Amino acid sequence: MRMGGSLAGPVALVAAVCLLLPAASLAQLQVGFYNTSCPNAEALVRQAVTAAFANNSGIAPGLIRLHFHDCFVRGCDASVLLKVNPGGGSTERDAPPNNPSLRGFEVIDAAKAAVERSCPRTVSCADILAFAARDSVNLTGSNAFYQVPAGRRDGNISRQDDALDNLPGPNSTAHNLTDGFGRKGLSAEDMVVLSGSHTIGRSHCDSFLFKNRERLASGTISPAYQALLEALCPPTTGQFTPNTTEIDLSTPTVLDNNYYKLLPLNLGLHFSDDQLIRNATLAPLANSFAANETLWKEKFLAAMIKMGNIEVKTGSQGEVRLNCSVVNPASSSSSAEIEMLMFPGGTTSDDAPAEDVVATS
Ligand code: HEM
Ligand SMILES: *[C@@H]1O[C@H](CO)[C@@H](O)[C@H](O)[C@H]1NC(C)=O
Ligand SMILES: *[C@@H]1O[C@H](CO)[C@@H](O)[C@H](O)[C@H]1NC(C)=O
Ligand SMILES: *[C@@H]1O[C@H](CO)[C@@H](O)[C@H](O)[C@H]1NC(C)=O
Ligand SMILES: *[C@@H]1O[C@H](CO)[C@@H](O)[C@H](O)[C@H]1NC(C)=O
Ligand SMILES: *[C@@H]1O[C@H](CO)[C@@H](O)[C@H](O)[C@H]1NC(C)=O
Ligand SMILES: *[C@@H]1O[C@H](CO)[C@@H](O)[C@H](O)[C@H]1NC(C)=O
Ligand SMILES: *[C@@H]1O[C@H](CO)[C@@H](O)[C@H](O)[C@H]1NC(C)=O
Ligand SMILES: *[C@@H]1O[C@H](CO)[C@@H](O)[C@H](O)[C@H]1NC(C)=O
Ligand SMILES: *[C@@H]1O[C@H](CO)[C@@H](O)[C@H](O)[C@H]1NC(C)=O
Ligand SMILES: *[C@@H]1O[C@H](CO)[C@@H](O)[C@H](O)[C@H]1NC(C)=O
Repeated sequence: MRMGGSLAGPVALVAAVCLLLPAASLAQLQVGFYNTSCPNAEALVRQAVTAAFANNSGIAPGLIRLHFHDCFVRGCDASVLLKVNPGGGSTERDAPPNNPSLRGFEVIDAAKAAVERSCPRTVSCADILAFAARDSVNLTGSNAFYQVPAGRRDGNISRQDDALDNLPGPNSTAHNLTDGFGRKGLSAEDMVVLSGSHTIGRSHCDSFLFKNRERLASGTISPAYQALLEALCPPTTGQFTPNTTEIDLSTPTVLDNNYYKLLPLNLGLHFSDDQLIRNATLAPLANSFAANETLWKEKFLAAMIKMGNIEVKTGSQGEVRLNCSVVNPASSSSSAEIEMLMFPGGTTSDDAPAEDVVATS
């Protein structure tokens, strides 16, 4: 991508623009990618997400985080959805940052089933996940809508170690966070902006309790808040507990800028959240988002699109997975055979719950 300084005119302008973009965004995703090949695709995904959200509003934060954890590990290629790595070994899905806290897999499966019935072998799982995250933003925000450039192809590798190496953890310092996002072509500002997702959703005790005892000692968490968390969580470390708490303690189901307002009150839940106001580079950004919700939301929607571009596979790379949990069979010559393998119960029967999802399209 390095280019010399001798180019002139429009070529130089294009080159200059290219140099400013992260490599990943050069891949050609397009808004309306399925306009002709599957015009109902986005509506069907939206229907599945809306139905699941009506039953359990936690699905929205779950799907937004699922998309993030997909994109940060081998790019946005639905590798996080795989239950089996064809090469053997543990998958991303098995990795501690994902298992057992990640949620929303069954919503992607329901959306995929609906989309496959409408247009078989056409819409990738990675795109379905990107659409579902967008719909989740739309369901929890106000005036929160963005067009999702699509055309992602699905990968066929999923390794636990890749998840451990690429997903930022709640004990991350400002430096760790900025560095980790930088490796994905995202800026420090993108990192602060996207952390605002923590204005919805929940967290498990092992993500915050013990590290926050150190924060209590250093005066960077409200003692009353930590006391509340101590009461909620079993006191001993080392063992997973299902107990969770809302990350944004005052407006946990609304995609607003309240997350940033809590930080200076020493009410950020994770050490990593608190880091955003302890660092001289990051704090002014967090404070500007606390002061201006419109500013944050504009940047948030743009940053979600940018995140959705990370290291995407397009064109003939990868594949369109038929079942989001497993890669397609290696010898995919006979499509009837694939249908048999991937949908043993048939695609038009024995699938009542997913059928309900499409009924009103
Ligand atoms: C900046 C680095 C980040 C760190 C260290 C981080 C860490 C975490 C942790 C520890 C949890 C709680 C998991 C649990 O114990 O259940 C969580 C939840 C969540 N994260 Fe992040 N996160 C980061 C960035 C992001 C980004 C970029 C997004 C989305 C764009 C995101 C979206 C979410 C959402 C929506 C939840 C709630 C999930 C649910 O309710 O199921 N996070 N995050
Ligand atoms: C799909 O249709 C929409 C609305 O007409 C349009 O904005 C978009 O550019 C189209 N995309 C493609 C790839 O055809
Ligand atoms: C509704 O949500 C609950 C969890 O809150 C889940 O156990 C159940 O399977 C969901 N039902 C449907 C039909 O999605
Ligand atoms: C959802 O998106 C639509 C545009 O399709 C927009 O009109 C609406 O305000 C959004 N809803 C919320 C709650 O953001
Ligand atoms: C943060 O970065 C430091 C220095 O590179 C490293 O030693 C540490 O393991 C990282 N911590 C986390 C939680 O990523
Ligand atoms: C974070 O740090 C605490 C306290 O040092 C430790 O108990 C916990 O296991 C760490 N959590 C993670 C996810 O590394
Ligand atoms: C953890 O959650 C369980 C189930 O909701 C609850 O019974 C328990 O009181 C909570 N707290 C502790 C400290 O285990
Ligand atoms: C603040 O974060 C930046 C990364 O955005 C890092 O380069 C810098 O070292 C951090 N400053 C301190 C004092 O930790
Ligand atoms: C808040 O941000 C928006 C969007 O950037 C901007 O138009 C507006 O002027 C800002 N409001 C204030 C009070 O600064
Ligand atoms: C994974 O996909 C690539 C093409 O994208 C293909 O060459 C390779 O054989 C596939 N591997 C497996 C295990 O399916
Ligand atoms: C997808 O594959 C998984 C794992 O093999 C299987 O359990 C599931 O039933 C399949 N889904 C469909 C719709 O066939």
